[in-house]
Amino acid sequence: MSVSRQGYSGLQILLHWLIAALVLFQLIFGESMGEVKDALEQGLVPDPAEQTMADAHYWVGIAILVLVALRIIVRVAQGAPAPIGSGPQLLVAKAIHGIFYLLLIAVPVTGLLAVYVNEEIGEVHEIGKPLFIAFIVLHALGALFHHFKLKDETLRRMFVPR
Ligand code: HEM
Ligand code: HEM
Repeated sequence: MSVSRQGYSGLQILLHWLIAALVLFQLIFGESMGEVKDALEQGLVPDPAEQTMADAHYWVGIAILVLVALRIIVRVAQGAPAPIGSGPQLLVAKAIHGIFYLLLIAVPVTGLLAVYVNEEIGEVHEIGKPLFIAFIVLHALGALFHHFKLKDETLRRMFVPR
């Protein structure tokens, strides 16, 4: 399916780091969404700062969904470099990348469903938090292992377009 190329394009690199930064923002500040919901349920006026962060959560989450759709289109159109390494380690890396794409779609979609369809879906949405954290840790450790132990191009090629 994918075209092979020497490295990631500038656009692919920009999308990788922009999406990563936005996901971190969501993970750190996501709780405002629940705070505002609880205040409204108790008939209270939500704290304005909390409300601002909740509005940000909503729009940043939708932005992530749009950027991921763009990222998938760009990946299919421009292709990706051949993986570095082999064996079980490569399988794990590929599995984590696949899980990221799934989470990057499923987490914002369940967030939207929680707002517009049924707030119970918020419980499913919240499972995204520990899953994201666990896979980000594994993924980042993998990247650092490549860079500092294996001393290969893996991390560098997510910074330098080719
Ligand atoms: C990748 C994108 C997203 C991430 C990583 C994310 C992450 C989070 C996190 C960490 C929480 C707090 C969980 C907790 O308190 O334990 C949360 C809550 C929430 N998020 Fe998101 N979110 C994303 C996108 C969205 C979108 C697009 C919407 C809706 C438009 C949304 C709606 C909500 C709602 C309604 C809650 C409160 C759930 C509840 O209290 O039942 N999220 N999200
Ligand atoms: C929310 C955070 C992150 C997400 C969702 C994420 C997601 C992804 C995905 C889906 C890929 C596969 C790209 C493709 O070929 O389609 C990838 C590649 C990569 N990521 Fe991340 N990433 C995150 C954070 C990080 C961090 C913190 C680092 C570094 C410490 C990092 C380093 C890399 C590297 C080096 C690659 C290229 C792997 C290769 O060329 O085989 N990522 N990332």
